[in-house]
Amino acid sequence: MIDVEVVERQAMAEVGAAKTVADLDDVEQSVLGKRGALAAAHRQLGAMDPEQRRSMGRVLHESRQRLEQAITDRRVHLAASEREAALAADRLDLTEAFEAFGPEGRGHLHLTTRTRLELEDTFVGMGFVVAEGPEAETDWYNFEALNIPPAHPARGMFDTFYLELGEPETVVLRTHTSPVQIHLMEEAVRSGTLPIHAVIPGRCYRRDTPDARHLAVFHQIEGLVVDRGITFADLAGTIETFTGTYFGADIHSRLRPAYFPFTEPSAEYEITCTICHGGGCRTCSGTGWIELGGCGMVDPAVFDAVGVDRSEWSGFAFGFGIDRCAQMRHGIADLRALIENDLRFLRQL
Ligand code: PHE
Repeated sequence: MIDVEVVERQAMAEVGAAKTVADLDDVEQSVLGKRGALAAAHRQLGAMDPEQRRSMGRVLHESRQRLEQAITDRRVHLAASEREAALAADRLDLTEAFEAFGPEGRGHLHLTTRTRLELEDTFVGMGFVVAEGPEAETDWYNFEALNIPPAHPARGMFDTFYLELGEPETVVLRTHTSPVQIHLMEEAVRSGTLPIHAVIPGRCYRRDTPDARHLAVFHQIEGLVVDRGITFADLAGTIETFTGTYFGADIHSRLRPAYFPFTEPSAEYEITCTICHGGGCRTCSGTGWIELGGCGMVDPAVFDAVGVDRSEWSGFAFGFGIDRCAQMRHGIADLRALIENDLRFLRQL
C-alpha cells in the first residue's frame, strides 16, 4: 500500500524546487499524471473493501486538491518572475552617456531663447496669442504697408540689409517685427477673424555697428491689438501691466512722445535702467533710462493699406527688444556678451 503522506510531501518538495514554468509542467505530469504515484494508489482502490475504499478515496482526493493548488500558486509565481526577467532583458536604454556631451557637460537654453519664452508666457497670461512671420520680407511688408513709401525720410530710421533691389521686387531682411502686423491683419480680413490680440517674437536685422546696446542681428517682440473701441489708455495700461509683471514692481516705465510712420500718436517706451537704478551709467549713456521699444495707436493709413475698416476698428501696437529685456532683467552691461559664446558668461545664466 502506498503511503499518501510520504508521496504528497515529496511531491510538494518537487513543486517548490521547480525553477521554471517548464520544470513545473514536468513535475505536474509526474505527480498528477497517469503514471504518477497518486494514480498508482488510485488503482489500488479497486482491491479494497468498500469501507476502506471510501476513506482511502477521500484521502487521495484531498491530497490531489492540495497538490493542484500548490502547483497553481507556484505557476503564478514563476510566470511573474519569468515575465519580469524577460522585460529586464529586453529593456532598451535610449539615454546617451553623459560623457558624450564632453567636458562641458550638458547645455541649456541660451538666455535670448529663455527670455523670448518668458515674454511669451507673460503676454499669454495677459490674454495674447503668439504668432510668427518670415525674416525676409518684401518692401511692401517691411515698409510700404506700414505707411513708409519709397524715398520717405523715415526709411532712414532703419539701416536695412537689402537682399534684392527692385526687379522683380525689393526684398529685405526685416528691420523690425512690425511687418507681421500686416500679415496678421491681411489674414484676419481675408478670413473674417478680427479682432486680433497677438504678440510676435522674432529675429530682426539692421546694418548697426554693435555696441553696448545694439546688435546687427537682434530680437523683437511685437504686440498688436485690433478691436472695437481700443484707446491709448488700453495701450498704456498694457505696457504698465507688462512692465510690473516682467521686471518687478520697483521698475518704472515711461512713454515719451515719438514718431513712427505706422502709429499715431506714437511713443517711446522706456524703463528705469536696471544697471544703475536710474543714477546714470555707461549702459544707459548716463540718462538713467533704457529704451525698450516703440508703441502707439495703429495709424489709420495702415488700416487702409490692409483693408481694415477704420470706422469700426481701432488698435495699438508695440515692439520691444527681446535682447534689451534680457539685458535689463539680468543686469548685463554689454549686449555683445550675448553673442560672444564665452561659456564663462553663458554658464552663469
Ligand atoms: N517697429 C518699431 C521699431 O522697430 C517699433 C514699434 C512697433 C513702434 C510697433 C510702434 C509700434 O523701431
